[in-house]
Amino acid sequence: MTRVTIGVIGTGAIARSHLDAYADNSEAELIAVSDINLDRARSVAEKYGAPRAYSDPNQLLADPGIDAVSVCTWNDSHAKWAVAALRAGKHVLVEKPMSRTYAEAAELEREVAATDRILQVGFVRRHSPNAKVLKTFIDNGDLGDIYYARASFIGRVGNPGGWFANKSISGGGPLIDLGVHVVDLCWYLMGSPAAITVSANSYTVLGDRANITTTPRWKVSDADATSNTVEDMVNALVRFENGASLLVETSYSLHATKNSLGVSVFGDKGGADLEPKLEIATEKYGSIVNLIPQISSPTFESEPAFANEIGNFIDAIQGRAESIAPVSHGAEIARILETIYASAEAGREIVL
Ligand SMILES: NC(=O)c1ccc[n+]([C@@H]2O[C@H](COP(=O)([O-])OP(=O)(O)OC[C@H]3O[C@@H](n4cnc5c(N)ncnc54)[C@H](O)[C@@H]3O)[C@@H](O)[C@H]2O)c1
Repeated sequence: MTRVTIGVIGTGAIARSHLDAYADNSEAELIAVSDINLDRARSVAEKYGAPRAYSDPNQLLADPGIDAVSVCTWNDSHAKWAVAALRAGKHVLVEKPMSRTYAEAAELEREVAATDRILQVGFVRRHSPNAKVLKTFIDNGDLGDIYYARASFIGRVGNPGGWFANKSISGGGPLIDLGVHVVDLCWYLMGSPAAITVSANSYTVLGDRANITTTPRWKVSDADATSNTVEDMVNALVRFENGASLLVETSYSLHATKNSLGVSVFGDKGGADLEPKLEIATEKYGSIVNLIPQISSPTFESEPAFANEIGNFIDAIQGRAESIAPVSHGAEIARILETIYASAEAGREIVL
């Protein structure tokens, strides 16, 4: 068994989930980490036993002893570091969103096509046990042809501030940060159809709700509350080539009575909620029957999802399996999200 040697670029919050999963994978060996915040890189290196810590990711990429990297930086450098890593001969697992724009995504597709390296997108929710079980039902035809899906990720005071709230770094607000997860899940479960039209609305009404002082909220470690340039909420209707449609709603700030997460797909033989909990609806002998698979958790489970994601990445590098989240999927999601923003900006439907 050959071990895959690993470097991690960006050592903030989500990098810990990658590092935990690499540490638990017997075929992965962490060699180096890198972060523009060298103190953070050093303390993460110490915690996870990485022999080297750098402030400049180029130093990490120059190490011929590293086979593969996770890119866990802010959205504005995902494409930059993924391209540099591919050119340095590394396999790449890049966090969601794969890029801020479709132009960056298309560049990544070209780079991947020019190499024999793997690029996997960090669509971690695809790897959650509940999603894997539902995908198995769908792949075996239990839902039939899926013609409608609903993707909802609603936060009431969910703007994390810092770089998330800075559009030039993040590429957008709740849609590109939270909505990307549920849009991707629905699109993946629908069988990855090509989008043909998008009609969307974006609202900036409540701002980051700094006036709300009694409801707990999560803020980034480097939060700087002085500016917020991202939307509060987005809704969209996406129509696909096969006639199927997807309804999307996502927010950081909204006068909603609760935070909520919803992922549902509907086919001609059955339907299912993946979130808030996995449940499948079908018919038997004139009755509607709901099926509840008895799994570890009916909702998203972070730890096994990251373990499965890293496992799929290592399997793909070792040539044992295909990655279930290839660059083409990251690019199509980038195209859909960019068109949602463009439709909202233009105030009309856009034909792709
Ligand atoms: N898969 C998920 O469920 C999930 C959850 C949270 C965040 N994310 C994604 O992970 C990425 C990071 O988010 P986070 O919450 O960890 O943010 P974070 O701010 O906690 O961490 C990002 C780290 O990257 C470093 N960094 C930024 N730009 C860099 C650069 N050019 N070169 C080197 N280091 C750089 C920062 O100093 C910071 O330490 C984002 O793209 C976010 O969308 C994914």
